[in-house]
Amino acid sequence: MCTVLCTLIPMNHGNVMKYQKSFSMLNGISAQFKRFQSLKKKHKMHTEACLVGGYSYPPLFSVAPMMDWTDNHFRTLARLISRHAWLYTEMIVAETIVHQKDNLDRFLLFSQEQHPIVLQIGGSNLENLAKAAEHANSYSYDEINLNCGCPSGKVAGHGCFGARLMFNPKLVGDAMAAISANSSVPVSVKCRIGVDNRDSYNELCDFIYTVASRSPTKHFIIHARKALLNGLSPAENRKVPPLKYEYYFALQRDFPELQFTLNGGITCIHQVDSAIKEGASGVMVGRAAYNNPWYVLGHVDRVIYGVLSKSHSRRQILKKYQGYADSVIGRYGSNRPNIRQLVKPLLNLFHSEPGNGQWKRIADTALRHCKTMKSFLAETLAALPDSVLDSTLGNTPSNLEVPPFTDLNSLQPPPYRSNA
Ligand SMILES: Cc1cc2nc3c(=O)[nH]c(=O)nc-3n(C[C@H](O)[C@H](O)[C@H](O)COP(=O)(O)O)c2cc1C
Repeated sequence: MCTVLCTLIPMNHGNVMKYQKSFSMLNGISAQFKRFQSLKKKHKMHTEACLVGGYSYPPLFSVAPMMDWTDNHFRTLARLISRHAWLYTEMIVAETIVHQKDNLDRFLLFSQEQHPIVLQIGGSNLENLAKAAEHANSYSYDEINLNCGCPSGKVAGHGCFGARLMFNPKLVGDAMAAISANSSVPVSVKCRIGVDNRDSYNELCDFIYTVASRSPTKHFIIHARKALLNGLSPAENRKVPPLKYEYYFALQRDFPELQFTLNGGITCIHQVDSAIKEGASGVMVGRAAYNNPWYVLGHVDRVIYGVLSKSHSRRQILKKYQGYADSVIGRYGSNRPNIRQLVKPLLNLFHSEPGNGQWKRIADTALRHCKTMKSFLAETLAALPDSVLDSTLGNTPSNLEVPPFTDLNSLQPPPYRSNA
């Protein structure tokens, strides 16, 4: 089986360490490998798909990096709901990692249960990106991702990174080469389909081509709308520019040796499933996963990964989360993290359920005096009916929305013609 795995896994120098470790755990891998083979069949997965750290790669389903949202606390909750979703961290700026090198746990530490997990970094200074990757390496993330999609003034304005990096594909290629050289895991880029008036399909392809040919980057996450650097807020930049899923599918057509993950505007598990059935190598969901974690993440293992795992109720999940929360309160100083930060990811757990409004009102009051998660939950959960707290997720909810991934072929731009 080693031979088969070797043929599937691209053996750049970075992966070797990881696979040596993995090979010593062949028994565990054997089950994962079998599941990977059946996933490949089920989803007609790209021939380049492989196993990384025992997980099928690139991710079939991932939770997007979201500043102030996908922190350690939300990721802990997300992992309690889905065993298989890949979790991206919020962006951490390379300079923060470099300047806080004596305090790295605060930014980079995560619990082993959070695997598979990806660190997203931001920046444009090659030396700092390389150092950040080196510091992050000992934390054993499963992939390092570079943010080339954030349009906020702080980042893409005077910060000169995020979406602004799409103007300079050679720099991104060199940055990815520097990150990869200092990391033992695969590297990826998350980008838009264009920025400002640099928004033609050919310009997007030039970006991908240049980055992939100057670095070992094989995985790109495509947020399928362009970014406007002047005049739109970050929130508007996530809804005003139109989604062009056809560009994503055209990239898959024109760069068959690369892997692309589709991101942007996906609101439910049906759409994820539909995109994968249409041939997407993977789908990343941001806001929907955060705003309705129970229904979006709760169906991932069964619908996307085909795993029939034991279902848990929200009461059981909260009990486990309580253990986590009360063990980390105050770990980094008297109020860091505090109960409010630990409760934040829970606030959408009962989205649209009976009792949700009342529970949130009681939670607001409880947060003024509760010092532990145990006391917070004891004081607030009575507002929710037992039927909500103790139910498990049944079959996939029916959904009347039409999935948006059919009939895109006719919209696809003509094949890429490289100017290189
Ligand atoms: C609150 C918030 C913070 C975000 N922070 C980041 C970030 O740190 N890095 C990044 O690449 N994208 C960030 N994004 C963009 C998301 O990763 C994602 O690309 C975008 O929300 C579109 O996906 P969706 O429609 O599934 O939400 C953020 C989005 C939101 C809503």
